[in-house]
Formats: sequence, structure tokens, C-alpha cells
Amino acid sequence: MQSITLKRPDDWHIHLRDDTYLERTVQDAARYFGRVLVMPNLVPPVTDVNLARAYRDRILGHAPDGFTPVMALYLTDQTSADTVVAASQSGFCPAFKLYPAGATTNSAFGVNAIEAMFPVFEAMQEHDVILSIHGEVTDEGIDIFDREAAFIDTMLTKIVHEFPALRVILEHITTREAAQFVAEASDKVAATITAHHLLFNRNDMLVGGMKPIHYCLPILKRDIHQKALVHAAVSGNRSFFLGTDSAPHPRHAKENACGCAAGCYTAHAAIELYAEVFEAENALQRLEGFASEYGADFYGYPHNTDTIQLDKDAWHVEEKLAFGTDELIPTRGGESVAWRVTSGARPLKKV
Ligand code: NCD
Ligand code: ZN
Repeated sequence: MQSITLKRPDDWHIHLRDDTYLERTVQDAARYFGRVLVMPNLVPPVTDVNLARAYRDRILGHAPDGFTPVMALYLTDQTSADTVVAASQSGFCPAFKLYPAGATTNSAFGVNAIEAMFPVFEAMQEHDVILSIHGEVTDEGIDIFDREAAFIDTMLTKIVHEFPALRVILEHITTREAAQFVAEASDKVAATITAHHLLFNRNDMLVGGMKPIHYCLPILKRDIHQKALVHAAVSGNRSFFLGTDSAPHPRHAKENACGCAAGCYTAHAAIELYAEVFEAENALQRLEGFASEYGADFYGYPHNTDTIQLDKDAWHVEEKLAFGTDELIPTRGGESVAWRVTSGARPLKKV
């Protein structure tokens, strides 16, 4: 049987939600990830260190020992330089997340005029806090499939030029343009790549009928973009690393006649799904860098010292998972996943 051992991986972009949903999301994320960067798009959002500390404590209440949530703070039009300083001194809030207002799930409190935030970016640059970006424009006139490339042209280029020492992460990239921009940028600029953008393209979502399970933002693009992302992920370029963007929504919110909530759930099988992608590219030897090293290096954390093992041993994914009092349809639900984590998984915490 094929098998691979990795330093314990980290997930640098995850949505854990809150309250009754934490039981599912934290247990799945904590199965074998060391650190996870927790996205702040709750309602109301996690805008300062005190809110982040309280949220982190709620997460830790469901977490086994050794699991480390680190927190992204939500940038709003009101974020001040003082909040940036507090984040830099906190020890657990390494990044601010920029959501252009209206770009995605729970982004209504996001930033309306990015240039007006430049003084805050200045403070982030000075205090070495990371700017993590949902890179899509929101203009009604721009086609949904072009919104990431338009953001790079109109905004990201400007931010990177104005703040050359600011560490910037373009989150969950979905296009050839994004992969190229990051590959050509300085080592201050990096990108996370999700498992679902590596495994699927817009045909998977649209051919034979719209499939809500695949609807996420930024939206799945055509296959040439998927191929560019796969190429970037397996390339060994240290600017690309693992961020699942696992983003659960209850089944009724996704399979809804009045609009489908954006977000794909992959935390139940995250490293296993990435392993499929790397295996298909004959690049399993590069999975450790992508999953366990480059993200930690960019964030300035040491590599995890223990390991996990994956065996090529297919398993069946349940069609639906319990999610508070709701149901959650996981990616690959009712189908199989080729790789299985056989050591390094943590025992579940009973709550
Ligand atoms: C995310 C969510 O549901 O919170 N949705 C998504 O489609 N990716 C938000 C985000 O990361 O854009
Ligand atoms: Zn996200």
C-alpha cells in the first residue's frame, strides 16, 4: 500500500462558525491539523482582540489538547491603528482579513473604500501584521467569473506597490492570473489554495444541473484556471500553501430556492483530498512543503514537530453530517476519498 508521512499540517484559512456548529467544525479541523487560521466573518464580526480572545476560548472549549486556533480579525471601515497595535501585541492575532463589502458570505461589515484603509495598512506594515485578502471586486458590472482578475488589476497591484514591506496573502486563489501574480511578486506576497479549487472546475458545478455543494466564492472557474492552480500548488514554490476555506452552511441554506449560500465543507477530509491532487500530479513528495511548511514559514511559526501518516486506502464519506440541529452535506458526501489518515489523528474531545 502506498503511504506518506508528513509533518503535522496547518490550515491557514478556515471557517469554524460558532455556538452549536463548533462541535462539528472544531472536531473535524482538530483531527490532525496543528494550527488553523480562523476566519472572523461571524455575525457580528470578530473585529478586535477581545472579541477574538472570547471566540478562541469558545473554540478551545471543543478542542483536543495540542490544537491551536490563531485568529484573523475582520477589517471594517472603522478599524483603527490602535487595533492593529493590539493585534500585533496579542500573540494570537497575526492577520486582518479584508472583505470588500458585499463580496461574500457575511461581508456586509466589510470595507467600502479600500484606499481609505491605506493608513491602517501603513500601521500593519509598521507592526508586521499580515493583510489577508478576499480578492474580488464587487462592481455589479463586472462578471462574477472576472472579479478576481479585476481585483488584482485595480487594487492588489496598488496595495503591493504602496506597501512593499507589508505581508499580503491573497486568499483562496481561483485563477491563472492570481497564480501568476503571486509567483512573480516579492516574498512578502503569498496565496492560499483550497482543495475544492484544485479538484473541481465550473463544469463540475454546472453541467447536468446546478450543484449547490460546489457553489463557493470566489466561484469555480474554467479548467485552464484549475490547471494553473494545481501547477502552483505542486510546484514547490513557497508562496503557495494550504488554506481549505472549509465553509459550512446548513443544507437548507445551500439547497434553497431563494439563493444558495456560498461555501464548501472540506474539513472532514481536507488533507486526504489534497493528497489526491498531489498524487495525480506525481508530486506527493511536495505535499509536506505545501501543507506543513510554507504557511508556517510565511506566518513566522515553527514547523510542527510531530507527524501524520496517510495511506492509500479508500473510505466512504457519509452523505450528510450532523451540524448542530441541522444537516451538512460534505464535499464528496456519498462518495469515496482515496487517502486515509492512519496515524497522528487526535482522539475526539467529548463535550
Ligand atoms: C465563505 C463563508 O461561507 O464564510 N464562503 C465561501 O464561499 N468561501 C466566505 C469566504 O471565504 O469567501
Ligand atoms: Zn473563506
